[in-house]
Amino acid sequence: MAAISTERRPDVHEAQPPDVRQYYAINQSVYGWFARYYDAVTRPLRRLRREVVALAGAPGGARVLDVATGTGAQALAFADRTAEVIGVDVNDAMLAVARRKPRPDHVSFVRADATHLPFPAGRFDVTCVSFALHEMPPSVRDRVVREMARVTRHQGTIVVVDYALPANRLASALTSRLVRLYERDHYAEFVRSDLPALFEGVGIAVRADHRTLLGNVRILVGDKVT
Ligand SMILES: C[S@@+](CC[C@H](N)C(=O)[O-])C[C@H]1O[C@@H](n2cnc3c(N)ncnc32)[C@H](O)[C@@H]1O
Repeated sequence: MAAISTERRPDVHEAQPPDVRQYYAINQSVYGWFARYYDAVTRPLRRLRREVVALAGAPGGARVLDVATGTGAQALAFADRTAEVIGVDVNDAMLAVARRKPRPDHVSFVRADATHLPFPAGRFDVTCVSFALHEMPPSVRDRVVREMARVTRHQGTIVVVDYALPANRLASALTSRLVRLYERDHYAEFVRSDLPALFEGVGIAVRADHRTLLGNVRILVGDKVT
């Protein structure tokens, strides 16, 4: 793999607003201890990982970036038939778990802040982020999606996988209450936010808006058109 430039400064927090500083601080304190349990807790998502790969439709030999990769489960699901998969994350404990997993040579894990991805424009055929945008303050979320669009080639694919609310109002209210027990800060605003508009604002045309796991998870697939 080519050396990763560190010129785009990773996680620079000092000059950030309080909600952004708090989000980075929570990231370090929570994932610092949760990393070792993360794969056990998210084991039921294994089938979903394959579904995401199928919906992304990466061409053979594709270069894939998994943003906020955590312990690398989604990155590793992209390993078959691709030429390169890079998972980036800002948390060393999560990356340490990812790096301990068996993986082919073309899969690697890099420490980087998704708001300042250390890659040139158009470097990847497919860029994916799963279960991370809901943790971010809106300003950070916007920046991450903009960065994903920047590093994806023209006509390349951008995939967002994250929480959604079921269409049924009772199920939606129950889900929302349940998830808010452990996703406290930005989830409630995130699940009601307009992700297709966020895509369109950075030059991504929505190709598919797929709901799965009883409507509790959304897989939004877009094509970079500008
Ligand atoms: C809930 S985990 C999801 C991990 C993985 N994508 C998955 O689907 O299992 C959220 C991950 O996002 C990472 N993350 C949050 N903000 C980030 C940022 N600005 N840059 C890179 N990674 C970030 C966290 O460190 C954590 O590993």
